Order: sequence, then structure tokens, then C-alpha cells
Amino acid sequence: MVAPLVKVPILGKETIHVGYKIHSHIVETIYKHCSSSTYVIINDTNLSKVSYYKSLLNEFQSSLPQESRILTYEVSPGEANKSRETKASIEDYLLKQGCTRDTVIIAIGGGVIGDMIGFVAATFMRGVRFIQIPTSLLAMVDSSIGGKTAVDTPLGKNFIGAFWQPEFVLVDIMWLSSLPRREFINGMAEVIKTAAIWNAEEFTRLEDNAIKFLEVVNNGDSDESTAIETILNHVYKLVLESIKVKAEVVSSDERESGLRNLLNFGHSIGHAYEAILTPQALHGECVSIGMIKEAELSRYLGILSPTQVARLSKILSAYGLPIAPEEKWFKDLTLNKETPLNVLLDKMSIDKKNAGSKKKVVLLEAIGKCYGTSAHFVTDEDLRFILTDETLVYPFTVNETNTNEKFITPPGSKSISNRALILAALGKGQCKIRNLLHSDDTKYMLSAIQDLNAATITSEDNGETIVIEGHGGEALSACPNELYLGNAGTASRFLTSVAALVNSTPTKDHVILTGNARMQQRPIGPLVDSLRINGIKIDYVKSEGCLPIKVDTSSVFQGGRIELAATVSSQYVSSILMCAPYAQEPVTLSLVGGKPISILYVDMTIKMMEKFGVNVIKSKTEPYTYHISKGTYVNPKEYVIESDASSATYPLAFAAMTGTTVTVSNIGYESLQGDAKFAPLVLGPMGCTVKQTATSTTVTGPKVGSLKPLKHVDMEPMTDAFLTACVVAAIAHDDGDSKSENITTIEGIANQRVKECNRILAMATELEKFGVRTKELPDGIQVYGLNSLKDLQCPAAQGIHSYDDHRVAMSFSLLAGMVSTAPNGVRIQERHCTAKTWPGWWDVLHTKLGAKLDGCEPTKGSTITNNSNNVRKSVVIIGMRAAGKTTISKWCATTLGYKWVDLDDLFEEQYADGSIKDFVAKFGWEKFRSEETRIFKEVIEQYGDKGYVFSTGGGIVENAESRVHLKKFVSQGGIVMHLHRDIEETIVFLKSDPTRPAFVEEIREVWERREKWYKDCSNYTFFAPHCSTEVEFQNLRRAFGKFILFISGLKQTVIPTKRSAFVCLTFEDLAEHDTKLTPITYGCDAVEVRVDHLANYDPDYVNRQLSILRTSTDSLPIIFTIRTKKQGGNFPDEEYEAIEELYKTALKSGVEYIDLELTLPTSIQYNVLNNKRFTKIIGSHHDFAAAYPWGDAEWENRYIQALALDVDIIKFVGTATKFEDNLVLEKFRDAHKEKPLIAINMTECGKISRVLNTVLTPITSHLLPSASAPGQLTLKQINEIYTSMGGLSSKEFFVVGTPIGHSRSPILHNTGYELLGLPYNFDKYETDSAEVISKELLEGKPNLGGLAVTIPLKLDIIKYMSELTDAAKAIGAVNTVIPLGNKTFRGDNTDWLGIKNSLVSNGVPESVKGTAGLIIGAGGTSRAAVFALHKMGCSKIFMINRTTPKLEELKESFPTEFNIVVVNSIEQAEQAKEPVGIAVSCVPADKPLDPTLLSKLERFLTKGLNAGFPPTLLDAAYKPAVTPIMRLAKDKYEWQVVPGAQMLVHQGVAQFEKWTGFKAPYKAIFQAVTTD
Ligand SMILES: NC(=O)c1ccc[n+]([C@@H]2O[C@H](COP(=O)([O-])OP(=O)(O)OC[C@H]3O[C@@H](n4cnc5c(N)ncnc54)[C@H](O)[C@@H]3O)[C@@H](O)[C@H]2O)c1
Ligand SMILES: [Zn+2]
Repeated sequence: MVAPLVKVPILGKETIHVGYKIHSHIVETIYKHCSSSTYVIINDTNLSKVSYYKSLLNEFQSSLPQESRILTYEVSPGEANKSRETKASIEDYLLKQGCTRDTVIIAIGGGVIGDMIGFVAATFMRGVRFIQIPTSLLAMVDSSIGGKTAVDTPLGKNFIGAFWQPEFVLVDIMWLSSLPRREFINGMAEVIKTAAIWNAEEFTRLEDNAIKFLEVVNNGDSDESTAIETILNHVYKLVLESIKVKAEVVSSDERESGLRNLLNFGHSIGHAYEAILTPQALHGECVSIGMIKEAELSRYLGILSPTQVARLSKILSAYGLPIAPEEKWFKDLTLNKETPLNVLLDKMSIDKKNAGSKKKVVLLEAIGKCYGTSAHFVTDEDLRFILTDETLVYPFTVNETNTNEKFITPPGSKSISNRALILAALGKGQCKIRNLLHSDDTKYMLSAIQDLNAATITSEDNGETIVIEGHGGEALSACPNELYLGNAGTASRFLTSVAALVNSTPTKDHVILTGNARMQQRPIGPLVDSLRINGIKIDYVKSEGCLPIKVDTSSVFQGGRIELAATVSSQYVSSILMCAPYAQEPVTLSLVGGKPISILYVDMTIKMMEKFGVNVIKSKTEPYTYHISKGTYVNPKEYVIESDASSATYPLAFAAMTGTTVTVSNIGYESLQGDAKFAPLVLGPMGCTVKQTATSTTVTGPKVGSLKPLKHVDMEPMTDAFLTACVVAAIAHDDGDSKSENITTIEGIANQRVKECNRILAMATELEKFGVRTKELPDGIQVYGLNSLKDLQCPAAQGIHSYDDHRVAMSFSLLAGMVSTAPNGVRIQERHCTAKTWPGWWDVLHTKLGAKLDGCEPTKGSTITNNSNNVRKSVVIIGMRAAGKTTISKWCATTLGYKWVDLDDLFEEQYADGSIKDFVAKFGWEKFRSEETRIFKEVIEQYGDKGYVFSTGGGIVENAESRVHLKKFVSQGGIVMHLHRDIEETIVFLKSDPTRPAFVEEIREVWERREKWYKDCSNYTFFAPHCSTEVEFQNLRRAFGKFILFISGLKQTVIPTKRSAFVCLTFEDLAEHDTKLTPITYGCDAVEVRVDHLANYDPDYVNRQLSILRTSTDSLPIIFTIRTKKQGGNFPDEEYEAIEELYKTALKSGVEYIDLELTLPTSIQYNVLNNKRFTKIIGSHHDFAAAYPWGDAEWENRYIQALALDVDIIKFVGTATKFEDNLVLEKFRDAHKEKPLIAINMTECGKISRVLNTVLTPITSHLLPSASAPGQLTLKQINEIYTSMGGLSSKEFFVVGTPIGHSRSPILHNTGYELLGLPYNFDKYETDSAEVISKELLEGKPNLGGLAVTIPLKLDIIKYMSELTDAAKAIGAVNTVIPLGNKTFRGDNTDWLGIKNSLVSNGVPESVKGTAGLIIGAGGTSRAAVFALHKMGCSKIFMINRTTPKLEELKESFPTEFNIVVVNSIEQAEQAKEPVGIAVSCVPADKPLDPTLLSKLERFLTKGLNAGFPPTLLDAAYKPAVTPIMRLAKDKYEWQVVPGAQMLVHQGVAQFEKWTGFKAPYKAIFQAVTTD
């Protein structure tokens, strides 16, 4: 049987039973060994749905002993429910059911259930018996074993608990078939951990079975069901082995005082990540990362070998686990949360599994073996190094202790490793290969060799030695699977010829070699050509000249004379050479077409073939021609792969630079690698003592600081070593010759420009940071050595950039240590990049060469937010000519208080010799574009963070390089805004411009070409329709102002916390209904656009709709919803591309909310969540089919999912089938308060849930054709029902003062109350006595809703207030009284809001930084005006009046930063330099104006400034409708004027919103107030 029932002993008893489908055994065991009157089965609601659970329960019931009973109890799933509260309710249940001491509790579930129920059992009646039936992998192998039980508290996980051993742990593998994929993989982390610390054999077995495992688990069907029986053998074994280890460890150390500690491998660091990344990341995922980090630490400390770390990371990724927090999918999953170094360290020290604040880590010595028998203390320094990707290198100290000779063995050479594998596989006999490089190439090579049955491969010394039992080339046979070779170039070239030797099998007559996308573009043609000529039939499966290829195994490799063009790659030559002995005829290989490249590598192949017993004879008559006779390789017993000679240059250079001695023990003068000459040819002449034997190289450096420059060296045979040479040359100088420039000239390295990076440029750039000059040569570089080490400068804080190039990083790690003046070390970025060839380099530098290293957090480039004080991310505006760039750029600049620059103007300024047209005429377009790009790049580099608005020429995107810079700016957190206008409008507009004759066709063509680039380069789009009236223009300006404030993060959407609503629009085209949109949205805090109802899903169309919605609702926050059919909407379910595209459109147009369905594919969700910037996300889920009552686990799981996605709001819509469903919903609402929750029931009988919902209730309007969901109500209906239920109580409001006979306040407020269905009434109360008000209203009216206070009471009322708002304090008067309950009152003042909002509603930006303001008059309203203008950001406030003493007094009472300037005289008014953008008149309008005041005023009116909006004057006096001052300003000075009635309404509206909490229906109110 595959999975027999096995009993594992723990603490001396065989209580752990493991098997497959052992339900009967489970029931029997429990009834037999734990007899009781009461069995209580407790599980979570997820398990209740599993069919295996149901049948188990039946079995429990049907064989229940007489006189016993079974009780069942369910709890909600998830860690959040592992709480004291849940425990208490279980206990209450048990008590209520009369459970006593003999009760047996059976916990069926994952670790949450096991831990919590175990704890219940431990304390109920001072402890009752309990049984664990673990159902998650984690629970099977970890949490159910060992007797630890616990619950969580808000302050930490597992803090409250007990040790309580279960009677039995009954492990049934069958449960795993219903376990969700991610949970399955999560559990694997613990399994791999256990094998890694204790069981090397099991670890190897896990390695071997990874691929199949992941395939099966990934292919679980939509019901999350895994075909467990296909991997049963493997899974059963891994569970069993893991349990055995844990049981053994626990048995020897039940209370975790020593050995049990080892189980925490990966957990010290893993927990620190988990603390930050929870709930997005699961425990096992964090432990996986922790294991790698802790293994790396072990390696860094010289305890664990690099091969072992490589095995660990390989196996973890093979099982689908993350191995670094930076992995893209893991970053997406954890929403790009940062894991700052200091927080990680902090979490590690408070971790309860560590003693004190010191940090302890379990170190690994080898796979399967820990270092010591307990965890070890580690230093913060070492941890910092491991946890970061930036390394600080401290000055190398050379002293007695480290002057001893050091022996270093760098990793094996890649070229030699690959050749050795081929030769040994084709050879006869056993060959032990040591020091093999573990890379992708060798990995694919090894598995291909096995697949083709070339050899049998095993390993020794924990994988350090590879043992190849070659089959002598005879058994090679076609394998059923394709040979997948990733991007491994060498492997694919070598294996192509090997495939030609393969024999057919009865079922297979060909071999297919394939690779990843990149590999499928790399050439292989010349090799295939010559094999074809030699009789092998090879077909290209996809594209000519590249993999995949199909090699026919019935054709035969004939041999004889083979010609090969070897000017492309020496790998083709080596490939044929190595297979040549197995051809039918002896081979003569002739390389034709000129001098072959890299002939050294051909020599290497030939020499290695000799070592494996086959001689290649070079032709004496023909150049580059070789004779190979037939034969079979004979494997040497052992083959030690020579270390990589390029890597060896670093430790050798270390010796040279520090005056110490280093020996590389397996590279000598016999070496086949070009870089082996580095020591004798470069370091020797520079003053080092170099000793080379046949197989070793020793370098001793001269006294520190006395290396000599190397006049000239041709490094063509060792190009990779030139970087090392450069850093040595940097500190080499000629003795005593102070005039010498100490030049080292390196040539023959032109190819290094096209390696991982342009290495010549990289060296020059980074050397300069050390103060070292260089000169680039066509084929090399000159380094100007420093005269003294003291001149070596410490690079600036951000340190040395590695260009993701291992050789750059390793070279500079040496020079960094030579800087003596770096008390904080020299920073090298991207430590990880050395992993490409030498993952252990830093460990060697640290442990073997004695360097002091530390790690640190990357210095931040400026990122998204504008929060940090001096970063003000600039804005770049792009778009077609005539889209309105100039106008909008100006608006943008005023709103943000930025400087505005037109890049075309800047160009002409720099050109200084005429217009752009002239320039183009003289130098042509191309030159213009490249100059334009240069200027753009420069301004962004200099001013990208400094608060500028750049408007660009329409053609800037024509240049590819400009596009790169635009995108780069976006990636750095900048805003590139695409100003979009309709093509037809653009054409009309351009045709009307006589100065630029334009041809329609041409415009259209240009438009089409550029629009896609604009889209591509921008992160925001603003749709700017053509405006034909001043009102349209104002609306657009207002909408733009709000848009720019939103996208720059200066004004963020605040999610309402009180009763609020949004209306749902289901129109096909909003343009047809734009006039209705205002009344439809009355009282709403947001408006939802149902994109799935729109007539067209084209992004441009949708964008236009959003623009219409904004301008017609005064930018009410938009909820962008695409409701799919499955969720009850109209959008096709599987059109994910269209959905992604639409979300992108939404984010680019800066919508305030996006509704994101929780059932969408996670990739879409992460895309939205990780690009949301300031947009809030509503995670929604709908149950139209009434499939899930509110108590169902579906909702709980969706809630957990929404929390894990960290959405901003959760929206759950269920379906009520009966009224009681609403009551269950309310219970759900009450228990879920982590995030704002919108939870409602559809249908008529669910109506009440809409009334009881508080935040953002979806509503309809009587102006809409139909409700968008069954049972939807209007806001008025909701408020009325709520009132009738007692939710809202009636309130009385009054306007107080005298005279108030004509007051419009009652009609203003009552109109609003009526429209929104509020049970309020507004009346007049005429008196001039504050005392009366206090007595009659404040004291006398218990249901007082608020007072509007007018003259003469605005000051007198203050003494009755319990508190004052800032506005009331600053203005020094109260016009609004807000009852706070218990006879306490807040005094507020909304006059300033009346002023501000009436200006803003006329198109003045909310913020007018850099503009000056003017106030006329010195009364109470003037004070409100001062406050308003200051709040709007006026840089200076001029004040004029008939006489000035009162003004002086007023000025004194405001803080100096208000910058008030009292203008005493006409002269002074004339001299005022600042132009004025806003003026507020606060003098009575019914008397003629004083002549001097008038002259002062006119001096200012002439200075009206158009700062993106026309200069605007508001007259606070509202009678007559057009005052003399207004007339003067408008007619004579062309100011925009705003009548006082607007101010009056706006201040009343502000009161309304403060009192009621609802948005006021402004338009209706305004109409009511202004018409009699
Ligand atoms: N006591 C210990 O020594 C110990 C050790 C490790 C972890 N733990 C604790 O274990 C808990 C984590 O355990 P977990 O990972 O099992 O989490 P879990 O109990 O939450 O289970 C994970 C999810 O899988 C579901 N599930 C479980 N088995 C299922 C099945 N067979 N079919 C379908 N769904 C199934 C659960 O309902 C849950 O949604 C943590 O609270 C942790 O503190 C305890
Ligand atoms: Zn764990």
C-alpha cells in the first residue's frame, strides 16, 4: 500500500497516527480509547463545506456509543478569530450544554483551530481531553505536534496559551485534497525547514519531487481541489518524515529549552518580515524568506557552503515559495509594503522566541544539520549586512593577524564546468567532479544528460561533489520530453551536437531542444548548418536559425570533413569537437572564413578532451584544422574544475592593494583560461611578487601605497579582468616623480562596452567618485593613478553604483576598502549582483580576507509623495498643439504655487538667434528634436523636484529618447500629464488659426501617431473639451483645479465616517443628461459611474464621460465601477484585458474611488492596488443569487481577502429573501469594523439594510429612469424611514439677531431639509440680547439643531460658547452655533467659507499661492475676508479703507504671517508692486464711496493680474444686486465680479453641511434664496 497507517511515538506514546482516508480508524480510535459521555467536534465554517468532513461526521454519528452524545460547534475561519472572544464563546457553549470534566473535544481544522481549541481544552474544567485532527499541511506537520496551544491578542500573536498535549493527533492526508493551493504551499515551508535542519536524505527526496508536486498543486481545479492521489506517495512521505522529526525533537525537549529551538530555523528573520507583511503574506512565505536570509548569514559567517545555500533557495522556489522580499510576485502580493531595516531589527529583538533584546538565529552547517544544538547570538552588524542589498565596506586594516597567507578557492569556471559535464557524460566510467559551478547552464545540462540517458548522476558531500557514471555514448536515447534549456547558451550549443548522437527508441525518433523567449532569439544557425551537411536531419520548429529545434535521431552523424564558419562563436567549434570521436568516420574539422574568434576556448576544449583520453591533432598543413579519430572518452576518477580565473583576480588584487599574500590554489600557469595571466602580466609589473606553479598562483603585494602604474597592457586575452586592473591602477603611482600622471593604459577591451553594462563608461564614472581621473580610448581606458592613498576620496553617501554587474561590484568592493577617510564605510549598491558568478564573494571578503562590512538601507530617490518638505515634484504637460497646454499649465502653476516654464520659450532663449522656425529652417527637424530632448533632460534633472510646471512642444514625443526621459520622470514619482482633446475639435480649432495653415489630413495623421505616445509616456490624462462660454470655461478651470490638487496628493479624498451616500448612474451617455446630474447628486458624497452601462468602453469615450461628470457635479468624488455579469452587472466576465485597460484609464484620470470586484483575477487586483496612488479602492462582492446567507464562510473569507488586499473600503451586497436576513446582516456589520464597510441586502425585503448602513450607502434618485439595484431607495426615502425608526430626531434651528425680518436663512435651510428628507425646521428669532438667546434657545430648547447668528450678536454670543473653532477665533466673531450635547456649544464662523467658496465657484483656484489680495473696509466682514484670503494662500493682503487707524488695529490682531499691508495713501497704493488677483469689498453699498478710498481702489484695480484666472472682485454687500464697486471693476477694469448673494448662500450652505453632515443641494438652495 502506498500510504499505510503508521503510528509515530511522541513523549513516549504512540499517539500520532498518519494515513490516507483513515476516517474509520479515526472514529474507532476515539471511541475506543477516549470513552466519554460527550464528544464535542469543533471546526471552522470552511471545513463544514468539505465533503470529506461531512462523511466523517456521519461516521461519528452512526457509530456513536450508546449513552454518549455528539455536539458540534463552528467558528468563523481565519487568524482574526483565534481570539479570547471566540474562546469565551466556545466555553459558554460548552457550559450551556452541560459539558463536564469527562468531555472529549475534537478539533478538526488548521493551526488556528488546533491552537485555540487546544487552549480551550487546557483550561475548561481545569483541563479536559482533546484530539487533534489537523486538516492543513501546516497543522499536520507543525502546529498539531508538540502540545503548544494559544490564542492571539491585539498586542501580539500566541501570547496567551498553555502546553497541553492532545490524546491523539490523527493525520489523514485526504484533507489536503481540499486545501487551497496557497495554504498547501505555505505548509511546505515548514516541511522543507524540518528537512533542512535534521534530515538530509528527506531533503534530497523533496528536491527530486518538486516539479511534479507544484504541477499538481497548481492545477487544482476551481473548487480548489487537488488531485492528491497523483502525488500521494510523495505527500504522505513528506508529512510522515516531517512529523517524525518534530516528534523526536519535542520528545527530547518538550518545553523548548534547547533542541526544540532548532525548529525555529528561518523564524527569527521570518517573523520580522511577517510582522510587517501580515496579513498579506502567510507565515510559511515569510519563513521561506527567513530561511534564505538565515542560511546566507550562516554562509557569511563561514559556516555554510555556497552550494548549500543554492540548494535551499532552489528547493524553496521549486515549491512555489518566495526567497526574497523583492520578488516581483511577492511584492505585488504584499502591496509593495516596505520592510525597513530598523523595523526588521526591532521586530527581531522583541520577538518572544528570542532572549532579551539580543538577537538569536539558528545557523545551518549543512543541509540536514544545524550548527550546534541551539540558536546563536548574532550581531546587528551581520544582520544588517544580510538584510540589505547595500554594503558598507570599511577601511581594510592590515595587521599582524591578517598578514598570513590566505588561500582562496573561487567558484568553478563556467566554461570548464560545462565541458567537463559533456565529456564525462559521453565517457565511460565514474568521474567525481568537484568545484562545479552551480549555475543555470550546469543545471539544465545535468538534467538533459539524464534525460538522454547519457549518464547516471548522483552527488556526494551534500551536493558539493557531482558523481557522473558515463555510459560511453552508447546508451544515448531519445527522451519523450522536450529538453528545456532556459536561457543557457552554452548548454544549448553543446547539447545540439550531443543530440545528433542520440538513438531512436521504439516510440520516439527525435529530440526537441527548446529554451525561454530570449533563448529562442539567440543564433544557432551555423552549427545546425554544418550538422545538416554531416547527415543529421534538423528542423526549426518556430523560427529559422534559433531554438526550438527538432533533431531527427534516425539520421546519423557521418563524420569526415566538416567545415565550420567559426567567426561567430567558438562554442559551435567546441560542440562539434567534443562529439567528433563518436561520428561514423574520423573527423577533420576545418574552421573557415578567417581568423576564428576566441581561439583560446577551442584550445581549452582540445586540452580537456586529452584529459578524458582523446587526442586532437592539429593539421600541419591547413590553418585552424583539426583531426579527430574515432574513440570513446575514458573518465578520470576525479576531475576538479579549475576556479574561474576572472573571479580569482579579486582576491589576488586584494593582496596587491593591501600588501598581503593570497594564494588561489587551483589556477596556475597550465591553466587554459586567459585570465590566469592576470597575475603575471598585470600585477607582477605593477610591483607584486607573483609565484605561479602549474596549478596555483600566489601574489604578494608591495608595501601599501607603492604599486606602480602599468604603461601599457593589451588585455584582449583577459578582457573580463580589466575592471580589476582599473581599481588597482587607481592607486598606482610612479615613485618620486611628482610630475608623472601615473597613467596605466589598458587596451584590447572594446567588447566590454556591450557586456552587462557599458563597463568602460561604468568604471570611468565610478572611479571619478573616488577622485580618480580616467580617459576613454576607442579600444580601452587610461587610468590616472593617485599620487598617494591619501588622495583617494570617499564617495558621496549614495555610494557606488554597480549597474547590476557582478564585476563592477566586486572590483569596487576592493577600492572601497582602500579609502582610509571613510569612518562610515563606502557604500556599494546592489550587493546581490555578484551572485551571477560568485554569490559568496562578500563572505570571502569578510571571513577570509578580514574586511569589516555592514549593511544599510538604500538612500531614497525622491518618491511619489510630496510630503517631505523640500520635494515638490514638478509637473510636465504634454499633448497636441491646440489642446490648451499653455492655459492649463498656467492654471496648474497657480494652483500648486509652482513656477511655469514653456519649454519652447526656453529653447528660443537658449538658441538666442531667432524662433524655433528659424532654427528648423537652418538645422533641420532632427537637430531640433535632439536639442529639445537635451533641454528637457536637463530641466528635469535640475528642476524635477523643485516645483515647476513645464509645458512642452507638441512634438516632444516624436523623439524616442524624449519618451524615455518622460517615462523615467514618471517612474521617479513625477507627474506627466497628457492633455487630451477630441481630434475633431482640434481640427476645427487649428483650421481657424490663420497663422498656421494646417491640412486636415496631416493633422489627423500626426494626431494618430502622437496620441499613442502621449498615452504611453504619461501617468495622468486630463480631458479638456473645447469651451465656448465663460461658464464652461469656469467649470473646466474649477474641475482642473480639483484634479491637480488630487493627483498631486495635496488634497486627498477623505472617506466619510458619518452617514453618507452615493448615487449610482446607469446612463449610456452622460452628455445626454448633463443638466440633470446636479439634482441627481443632491446630498451625495460621491457619484458612481457604472462603466458597464456606458454605450462604449473605449478609453477615450470613458474619459470624456468622466470629464462631463466632473464639470457638471462640481467634481463630486467619482466611484468608478465596472460591474461584471457574474456580479450582477453588464460587463462581459472574461474580458480581462478590457477591464485592465479601463482601470488604467480610471487611475490616469484621477478618479477618487475604484470599485474592485474581489472575484477578479489577482493580477488585475494587484495592478490596481499597486498603482492606485491617491485613489481609494472599494473591494466589492455581490451575491445576486442569494447563495450565501450572512453567516456563511463566504463572507468571512471575502472579508479576510479584502483585508489582505488592504482595500480602503469593503462593499458587500447580499440578497435578502426574508426580513430576518437583515438582522443577521446587522450582526455581521457589528463584528466587522476593521475598515469602512458598506453592507446591504438587495430586494424589497432588504430595504431596511440600506437605511441601517452608515457609510456611502448606494442610493437612487427620482430623476433616474430606474433604480440600479432591486430595493434601492432615494436619500430622502432613507432619511424618512430612518427618522420614523427614531434614527433621526426632529430639530429646530434659528437665525438670531436684529433686524432679521428679511433674512433668507429660513428658506435656504428649509429647502435643503425638504429635499433630503430631514426632520428639521428653521425659523427666525428676533432679539438683540445674547442673554435671551442663551436662556430661551441654548438652555430652553433641548432639540436645538443650531443657530445662525447675525448682527448685533456675533460678539456677544461668544461668552456662551464652550469652545471656538480656529476660524471663529481668528475672525473674532461667531456666526454659527453648533450644539455638542449636554448644553455645550461650539462657536464657528462660516463667513470666510462664504467668501472663499463663492470665489472658487467662479473659477478662482482653491489655492492662489503667489497672488496678492485686496480687502476694502475694516469691519467684521473684512476680518472674515482676511482669514479667507490667507486660507487661499494669498502671499500678501493689501487693505484699504476711508481712514486707517481701525485697519492698523485689525492688522495687529492677526499673526504676522498673514502678511497684511495697510495702504495709507494713494502714493502707497501706486507703489505697491505685487499685482492683485482677488479683491473683496466689505463696505456698505448703499452709500457713495469716499473719493480717496475710490482712488486707492482704482490704483489696485489697474494692477489686476491674470494668473490663469481673471482678477476677481467679490462684493460682500448684496444690495443692490450690482453695486457701484462691481460696476466700476467690471466696466472700467475688466475684472470678473461676484455678487454678494453668492457669498450669502455659500456661507449658509457651509452651515447646513456642518449641522446636518450632508452635502447641501446648492443649486436648489440658490434658486430658492434668489427668487422671491
Ligand atoms: N502550536 C504550534 O506549535 C503552532 C505551530 C505553527 C503554527 N501555529 C499556528 O497555526 C496557525 C496557522 O495554521 P494554518 O496555516 O493551518 O491556518 P488556518 O487554520 O487558518 O488554515 C488555513 C485556511 O485553510 C482552511 N483549511 C484548513 N484545512 C482545510 C481543508 N482541509 N480544506 C479546505 N480548507 C481548509 C482554513 O479554514 C483556513 O481558511 C497560526 O495561528 C499559527 O500561530 C501553531
Ligand atoms: Zn512556523
